[in-house]
Order: sequence, then C-alpha cells, then structure tokens
Amino acid sequence: MSERVKQAIDYCKKNNQGHLIDYLKPIFSPKADSLAKQIIKSDFPGINALYEDLYKNLGNVIERDILTPMKSTDISLLNSDKTNYLIEEGLKSIRNGEVAVITMAGGQGTRLGHNGPKGTFMLETNPPKSLFEIQCGQLLALKEKTGFAIPWLIMTSEENNSATIEFFQKNKFFGYDSEKIHFFQQDMLPIIDFGGKILVNEDGIANGPNGNGGIFSSLKKSGNYEWLKTQGVKRVFVCGIDNALVKVADPIFIGFSIESSKLISSKSALKRSFDEKAGVFCYKDGKPSYVEYTEISHKDAKDRGVNGEYLYGDIGIVMYVFNMDILDEIAETPLPYHIAKKKTPYLLHTGEKIDPEQPNSIKFEAFIFDSFDRVPDIALLRVKREEEFAPIKNKEGEDSPMTALEMFLKERN
Ligand code: UD1
Repeated sequence: MSERVKQAIDYCKKNNQGHLIDYLKPIFSPKADSLAKQIIKSDFPGINALYEDLYKNLGNVIERDILTPMKSTDISLLNSDKTNYLIEEGLKSIRNGEVAVITMAGGQGTRLGHNGPKGTFMLETNPPKSLFEIQCGQLLALKEKTGFAIPWLIMTSEENNSATIEFFQKNKFFGYDSEKIHFFQQDMLPIIDFGGKILVNEDGIANGPNGNGGIFSSLKKSGNYEWLKTQGVKRVFVCGIDNALVKVADPIFIGFSIESSKLISSKSALKRSFDEKAGVFCYKDGKPSYVEYTEISHKDAKDRGVNGEYLYGDIGIVMYVFNMDILDEIAETPLPYHIAKKKTPYLLHTGEKIDPEQPNSIKFEAFIFDSFDRVPDIALLRVKREEEFAPIKNKEGEDSPMTALEMFLKERN
C-alpha cells in the first residue's frame, strides 16, 4: 500500500468518510492511487459541515424569509428619447473599452440531456448554430458597430473545459479575436448521498460544479479579474449559456446600469405562471434579494397585488451587469451554498455501477444572485420576454429546443 493511500485512509477515517476505504483497496480499484490523491486534496471537513448545516439539521425545518416586492423599470414604458439616450450611453461605454462579457457555461445541463458542454448545443436554424456561436455573433455585431472587440470570458468547469476550448478552436473562434476570449474554470465540489457519504464513480470522487455563484472567486483566482482591470474594464455583463435570445452586452442595458449608478443591475421578465421554474426578485429584511423557484413558498409564488399582477412577478433571466469594484468585493467573502437533490450514477465498492431512477444525492451550489445583498440596492430592467428569453432547459415541452427555435426564428430572422 502506497504512502499516499495510507494517508488517504487516515483522512477518510478522521472525517467520517470511512466507506471510501473499500474503494482504496487495490483488489477492488486499480485506480486506488489516483483516488487517494483526489481524497487528500478534497475538503472533507467542509463538505461534512455543509451536510450538517444545510441538510441534516435544517432538512425538515422550513424557514421562511419575510419577503417584500421589488419594483422594476419596464422597458416598454420608456419613451424613444430615453431609449436612444440609454443605447448611446451603452455604446459609448463599449467603444471606450469599459465593458467585458462573462458567459457562465460551467453547468451540467442534465435536464437537457445534451452530451457535451451546453454551449455546443446546436439550434436548428438554417444553417444550424451552436449557442456559443449565437452569443459570438452578437459580439461581432457590436464590434462592427463600435470598432471595439469586447473581452469575452467563458466560465467552464473541470468537466467541460477542454471540450469547450476544443470546440472554439475547431470553429476558429467563430471569427472573433481569439486573444479577447479567455476561459476560466469554476470549482468543483464532491456529491454526497443522503447519509452524507461521498459518492464514487469511474473517475474517482463524484463531483460537480459549485453553482454559478462560483463565478466571483474563480474569476479572481484565475487571474482574469486582473486582466480585465488592466484592460480598463469598468463593468461586466454576465449571462448564462442556455438562452437562445440573450442580448449579449445589450447597449440599452449597459446604459441603464450606468444611469442607475447601482453596482449591480439585472434584467427581468414577467412571470408566466405561478409555478414557472424561474426565481423572482424581492427584498429580504429590506435588502435586495432573489428567491429561487425551488425555495419560494406556494403562497408567495401565487400572491397577486391590487393590480392583479403577481406580487413577485419579475423573474430572473440570468442577465446582469456588475460594476468591477463590487465583483472584487463579493469575491472576498464566499456566498452561501444551497442544496439540490439530484440523480447521480455511482459505483459500489465492488465496481458495480448504479444508475438511480430517483434523486439519490445532494449537490451543493452557490447562486450568483446571493450577491445582491452585498449592495444597498440593485437596478431592475423588465424586458419583453418574447424578445429576450428563450431558455433551453428541457429535452421536450416547455423551455425546450423546439420552443426556443420557434421564438428565435420569430425574433431574429
Ligand atoms: C436559472 C436561474 C433561475 C432563473 C432561470 C431562468 C440560477 C442559479 N438560477 O435557473 O433563477 O430564473 O435560470 O432560466 O441562476 N451554471 C454554471 N455553473 C454552474 C451552474 C450553472 O455556469 O455550476 C450556468 C448554466 O450553464 C446556466 C446558468 O448558470 O447558463 C443557470 O443555470 P442553472 O444553475 O441550471 O439554473 P436554472 O435552473 O436554469
């Protein structure tokens, strides 16, 4: 038995993960050494603490925050002078090199069932275009308009980083300036079962990306925050990868964010139904906040105001503008984690693979919007759903490639 394996066994015993020792026995695992290496560098005390705090001790207690509604500025109520002014402000900022873009593409896209990074998913336009290419097309158009190529950062994870980079190389960076495109990886966290035990798969410890709230610390750790600083960037447009109608670095939104003087701005859209799988903006204890669809109470989700609109009717569509200074500040203190119950295939220590049909595991994820309470207030711009929000989440039905394509063709053709 190697020294490393011995050290790993010791670490497992000390941290209540003794079941992993069976996987380290060379008779069962020829990969014992590499598993031992992963074990040693994992933060078992941290994972155990998250399990205790977020699942074991709180699992059955439903704590409800007191929410109050947040007002948004409705884009369709702005007059044309105002609209033109905001667009001009946004374009000026882009032209001056003050804007960068981050696309969060580290997620797993399990609901969609696409094999590969979500950004490589092809929308069946004519000719078909990947989600990455669609975003890049917008950056190219802005370059043409302003004469400036906006720096574009793409957040990946250990799981999809090399496949993402290969895809860009194969496609010659879609004609964009390759030195302006940087990739950085978010952190991964072990996945545990409902008893708090870390799962093992063919690659060793089963792990997953730590949620899109990982963006702040990873941006800093990767050195890319400094890179943006040296480029003179003042504000960063952040979006997800799975919205076919996302308006990347939308000038009116940049202008809106500048005019608001808020350190964080966000776009929203009107909620479609009370049970839509989208989080909503609100205040918690007077601080700007957001409740995810998995965590809102039935009553809050359904409540309507005097005008008949949902009280919490502004849903998040994953488009933000962050001021550079606040990005740095948020990275200083880690965001809280939430739990997600997921189906995770795993190996028994005998080597037998188990493919669960029901959720069998807990994943810890930080959410980008948990950064809102670090600022006194945020600015919210409600945009038209049909123009800006065609999410691709599920294989079929609502928010699927079919619905997104239909909206895309209507809007962008
Ligand atoms: C997300 C929002 C939800 C919003 C909905 C609208 C979050 C946490 N939730 O839900 O409030 O109403 O979109 O469509 O933002 N990602 C990473 N790394 C990760 C996890 C996710 O880069 O570790 C990226 C994904 O690739 C995606 C975006 O973040 O582009 C949001 O993904 P996900 O966490 O799957 O949230 P949704 O359930 O889609």
